[in-house]
Amino acid sequence: PVIYVITPTYTRPVQKAELVRLLNTFLHVVNLHWIVVEDSPRKTKLVANLLEKAGLNFTHLNVESPHSSKMLGSKLPFRTPRGTAQRNLGLRWLRENINSTNPPEGVVYFADDDNTYALELFEEMRYTRTVAVWPVAFVGGLRYESPKVDPEGKVVGWKTVFDPDRPFAIDMAGFAVNLQLILKKSHANFKLEGVKGGYQETSLLNDLVTMDGLEPKAINCTKILVWHTRTERPTLVNEGKQGFTDPDIEI
Ligand code: UGA
Ligand code: MN
Repeated sequence: PVIYVITPTYTRPVQKAELVRLLNTFLHVVNLHWIVVEDSPRKTKLVANLLEKAGLNFTHLNVESPHSSKMLGSKLPFRTPRGTAQRNLGLRWLRENINSTNPPEGVVYFADDDNTYALELFEEMRYTRTVAVWPVAFVGGLRYESPKVDPEGKVVGWKTVFDPDRPFAIDMAGFAVNLQLILKKSHANFKLEGVKGGYQETSLLNDLVTMDGLEPKAINCTKILVWHTRTERPTLVNEGKQGFTDPDIEI
């Protein structure tokens, strides 16, 4: 099966470093198709060049996030979640470009550009019949959050402190969806409006599956294979002083 990875990304000083790090991981994974969606009114040269030289299958898309999120940021009570419009465009690309009468075996994964992914994760998700789930480290104020798995190997709830009664109390990095399910449920997507914090994942998964249909991976959710790492913003205070760095040199 093919692994379709959808990655939202946006311009900032560490963007290339993040994408190079992701690429270095994905180059070790066979049958991976990387769908990179820029949060931008146009495709940038930086991302285009990186992908063209990368040596893997890719699709380069772009869509700018709605202005409300950019202008008001976290001051807005219903801040548009980050990466949502981009993930939805990735889903739309799959539905418009994969022949749904004879789709290839595949799985879809949403990989943010700043997380850390173990290579084993991709082999865990590759054979997903509906929706596969596993723990994610460094979310919700815990070392890791995890689906709760009963002795029969069924997901029966969520080991989270933050709102464990959510239908799907799981981070974006903690699940993958069968490709044919994405194509069959052709209206399933992430909701942009009126979604409370922590409910973005639920807003998609509600359209696709019930808790009953979840497949726990990573040895019944006992192995950590993905980390919700966040990159420190570099200090660039001396960039105001002219002449030290060449603005034409890409970083
Ligand atoms: C958490 C979750 O892990 C994300 O999946 C979720 O989208 C996000 O919260 C949210 O609040 O909506 P966090 O580390 O806080 O993640 O978010 P970021 O890593 O900053 O952003 C998630 C993705 O969206 C990244 O791939 C990032 O490159 C992209 N992004 C971020 C944009 O495309 N545009 C932006 O303006 C900001
Ligand atoms: Mn992040």
